[in-house]
Amino acid sequence: TQDLIFLGIESSCDDTGAAVLRGQPGTAHVLSSVVVGQNDLHAAFGGVVPEIAARAHAEKLDTCVIEALAQAGLTLAQVDAIAVTAGPGLIGGVLSGVMCAKGLAVATGKPLIGVNHLAGHALTPRLTDGIAFPYLMLLVSGGHCQFLMVRGPQDFTRLGGTIDDAPGEAFDKTARLLALPQPGGPSVEAEALKGDPKRFPFPRPLLDREGCDMSFSGLKTALLRTRDSVMDGDALRIGDRADLCAGFQAAVVDVLREKTRRALALYLAESPAQPTLAVAGGVAANTAIRTALMDLCAETGTTFTAPPLALCTDNAAMIAYAGIERFALGEVDDMTLMARPRWPL
Ligand code: KG4
Ligand code: ZN
Repeated sequence: TQDLIFLGIESSCDDTGAAVLRGQPGTAHVLSSVVVGQNDLHAAFGGVVPEIAARAHAEKLDTCVIEALAQAGLTLAQVDAIAVTAGPGLIGGVLSGVMCAKGLAVATGKPLIGVNHLAGHALTPRLTDGIAFPYLMLLVSGGHCQFLMVRGPQDFTRLGGTIDDAPGEAFDKTARLLALPQPGGPSVEAEALKGDPKRFPFPRPLLDREGCDMSFSGLKTALLRTRDSVMDGDALRIGDRADLCAGFQAAVVDVLREKTRRALALYLAESPAQPTLAVAGGVAANTAIRTALMDLCAETGTTFTAPPLALCTDNAAMIAYAGIERFALGEVDDMTLMARPRWPL
């Protein structure tokens, strides 16, 4: 097989992305990956506003594509195919991306390939490390939290996941409740380093229940209650804030470690010859979480892999790569490609 050049487009949440990849399944490399975030647009609202996100994607997509091609040193005519996130995500954003990709495909006559955003995350370790199927993937971000058994480019089994909030969302809400800057993950993690994780015993939701499902929404309620119990009028003491962050993070770490242990056991029962755990998603940047997962892997003789952060969080390179994998299976879409707000793997 011959190397292909793929243009990828991502716009399912609050990052607009375009990327150019060259290669084939298992051996592709990123020629360029442009990501334009929207944090400043949503900051005043305390969360992503779908309508604002969709407009920003529509405004930024063309310049992202032009920039990605320029950085790769290529023209649109040199691209072999166009891959685009067709869901799941905020529908206005997904539609912006799909319409942009359709326009490019019609104008150039190149094949169009719709990609599931979650498949993009789940296949990233093949792009960054060339790892072979199968492997276990823990996807943890602001919007997702699930364990996937990845057996092939389109063969995923969900072993469990959150039944409410994703961990990143819990970090972001915690930051909001404690007046720390957004995104909450990095600021809560930094604060937790200064605190005592044992002072406030936060719940470990669903640990007493069998299986790999998780729940993180109760943690923020517990955090709010504990915060109010230690507040002195309107003021939160610095030491208390650090202890709250440390206690919260310790609870998330415990839940993720234990549920990953169970998912790994299920995975290893099926694939004992290929013990590999891969993580992706913005929360995988957290050192305490990473360390806990690496320790767990060391204990069980499992190889641990995590893509570099820029490819862990939302980006278009992973979409282009998932497109290469789909295309290699002979799958292409046409102008009937639909944007899907929900699209389980
Ligand atoms: O993958 P991502 O960029 O976007 C999606 O949600 O798809 O992940 C962003 C999330 C945010 O909720 C952010 O607070 C969280 O990842 N995050 C972290 C850390 N860095 C980013 N959570 C915990 N610890 C971190 N160091
Ligand atoms: Zn994502």
